[in-house]
Amino acid sequence: MKEKNIRKKENILSTNGKLGVLLPGIGGAVSTTFIAGVEAVRRGWGSPIGSLTQQGTIRLGKRDENRVPEIKEFIGLASLDNLEFAGWDIYEDNLYQAALKANVLKEGLLEKLRDFLETLRPYPAVFNQNYVRNLDGNYVKSEEAHIDLVEAIKEDISNFKQKNQIDRCVMVWCGSTEAYLAPQEVHQSLKNFREGLEQNDPNIAPSMLYAYAAISSGIPYINGAPNLTIDIPALLELSKEHEVPIMGKDFKTGQTLLKTIIAPGLKARLLGLKGWYSTNILGNRDAIVLDDPGSYRTKKESKLSPLTYILQPHIYPKLYEKLYHKVTINYYPPRGDDKESWDCIDIFGWLGYPMHIKIDFLCKDSILAAPLVLDLALFMDFAQRAGLYGIQEWLSFYFKSPMYKEGLYPEHDLFIQLMKLKNTLRYLMGEEQITHLGMDYYIE
Ligand SMILES: NC(=O)c1ccc[n+]([C@@H]2O[C@H](COP(=O)([O-])OP(=O)(O)OC[C@H]3O[C@@H](n4cnc5c(N)ncnc54)[C@H](O)[C@@H]3O)[C@@H](O)[C@H]2O)c1
Repeated sequence: MKEKNIRKKENILSTNGKLGVLLPGIGGAVSTTFIAGVEAVRRGWGSPIGSLTQQGTIRLGKRDENRVPEIKEFIGLASLDNLEFAGWDIYEDNLYQAALKANVLKEGLLEKLRDFLETLRPYPAVFNQNYVRNLDGNYVKSEEAHIDLVEAIKEDISNFKQKNQIDRCVMVWCGSTEAYLAPQEVHQSLKNFREGLEQNDPNIAPSMLYAYAAISSGIPYINGAPNLTIDIPALLELSKEHEVPIMGKDFKTGQTLLKTIIAPGLKARLLGLKGWYSTNILGNRDAIVLDDPGSYRTKKESKLSPLTYILQPHIYPKLYEKLYHKVTINYYPPRGDDKESWDCIDIFGWLGYPMHIKIDFLCKDSILAAPLVLDLALFMDFAQRAGLYGIQEWLSFYFKSPMYKEGLYPEHDLFIQLMKLKNTLRYLMGEEQITHLGMDYYIE
């Protein structure tokens, strides 16, 4: 990206006006928990815990300057009161019904939010069961040709913007995980992709049609699932053509979040790893989808890669070359959204003596994911106002498989990711980068 395109500090455009958050998969557990949660916070009935944009601070300057503003004040993020929501789903339920079915938030809270949630209804989805075999919703668009489906999505967006007087939009894919798709010829250039649209190429997944509609309308696109979607040269090219920021893939919550917290610590102390066995039980709609081998393969690829990148076995062969890493996900209906994940970590220390770490994490998947949707929507809106476009690597913090420029490797260490994020904000706001060197405090 050319430096001249980047707007800094006072030139970052204003946050005035409404921000529309567009969600394919609006009737799912993550979307409903996110939207109901934002409304609960707006009404003063809950706190946005887990959200960096709502609770995070950023140190500026030297440690003895005591300048630690809130991030949202420092960079000027859209306020929660200015958010409006719309989206698509293959089930017609309004958001009150959908949230009840997702069974994440308590019924008492949903009842209090009912007046608001019932006003939100999905648009019919662009859906192809070949990509999500275990769901069979029939609330889908009647158009069949790819081009017509893209136009129909654009029309929904334009109706939503007009009706609610929306200024700017971001799109966050919170739809089901699509079946594994290896990159094909049609994904390799925008020219091929456009021809593929004309010819209804079956390798163009529904998520790609949403992404194409969004990016070509100047709307940033975030991929919360592990689907290939925007991680292809064609849509990267489109994002550059329209100067739109994009980022993915797969929200980093639960087990992988813990993995990218613990693995950097073990590596920092140069403790060896022999094996890391991870297994989960989960019983929500997401787990039904992942019960299909195609969708599971997409997820598995996304869950396996962080350890390799963090541990760098090619640089530390004695410590990590023989690591056996296994991840399984099991659909187990009684647990609903309350996932339980176990990790059995076999490490070794001084003289090769073995030790073991066991983790039993009883988490709530969507409670961990909802603040990420909020942060990503607000940060991507900020990125666009700051003139950034293409892959937003500084948002790797939020993803299991962060996208990265060809020729680089992804950064998975959560602490490096956070430093990268905050330094990007300092850079854009004309503040010094913080290196944590600190020698100048001691040199008299
Ligand atoms: N919850 C987490 O912690 C977490 C973490 C990482 C990634 N994710 C991913 O986020 C996504 C959402 O998770 P969830 O738990 O809300 O799942 P969910 O199954 O509850 O919701 C997904 C929704 O997408 C809808 N859908 C499917 N295909 C669609 C299409 N083509 N267009 C519009 N809607 C469509 C489904 O009907 C469903 O309502 C999944 O892909 C999941 O893998 C979730």
